[in-house]
Amino acid sequence: MPLPLLTRPLLCRPLQCRPLLACLTALLLLLGTALPAWADFVLPPLPYGAEALQPAIDATTMTIHHDRHHGAYVANLNAQVKDNPALARLSLDALQSQISRFPVAVRNNGGGHWNHSQFWAVMAPEGQGGAPSEELLAAINSGFGSLAEMQSQFNQAATARFGSGWAWLIRKSDGSLAITSTANQDNPLMDLPGIERGAPLLGLDVWEHAYYLQYQNRRPDYIKAWWSLLNWNEVNRRYSEAVAT
Ligand SMILES: [Fe+2]
Repeated sequence: MPLPLLTRPLLCRPLQCRPLLACLTALLLLLGTALPAWADFVLPPLPYGAEALQPAIDATTMTIHHDRHHGAYVANLNAQVKDNPALARLSLDALQSQISRFPVAVRNNGGGHWNHSQFWAVMAPEGQGGAPSEELLAAINSGFGSLAEMQSQFNQAATARFGSGWAWLIRKSDGSLAITSTANQDNPLMDLPGIERGAPLLGLDVWEHAYYLQYQNRRPDYIKAWWSLLNWNEVNRRYSEAVAT
């Protein structure tokens, strides 16, 4: 690759300029290898307007939750790339299944980025989320007896999560469905002790930042309202993908 114009020895003899050229070239090479990594992880836009999930979730909560909380996870994860260069070679998905290799800051912020990315996609404006597919409904009935029973067990897991965390419906490697819950920003893809692993079909954020402005301490009310936003079309897609892999 030709050197940029600024590094060319236009105003001095070659021997005089050699140290300067070497320094400039080294600087350019350094910048050239460092810059791409800083931009690896990107905050995805909301797939709908911040006000689109009202009345179940208000626009202010959505804006703060997405722009500031999720935005901070992305920024903090990118800040970890310098000290953990292996991050620059991993997709966000691939990172989850080998998170045990990395320090807790990567676990928290990498998990936060993945969890919230799936969270926005698993919601839709009320009335636009579709319904469970025949295949998914059969799996739910097989695993829980009924859709209502699955929702009841999910609500129990989401309500009982002490402090901050997530509730999940997952498809395990044996093909069965299960309800599980993770603390903080952990998720069922992570290779960590105590995690019930599986393909997440839907995950609900029960951190207070997800609901406190509107619901204060009434987490069960938030969970109940959240079901009206469920994007079953996305859950169906995830189930089909999990079955195929
Ligand atoms: Fe959140």
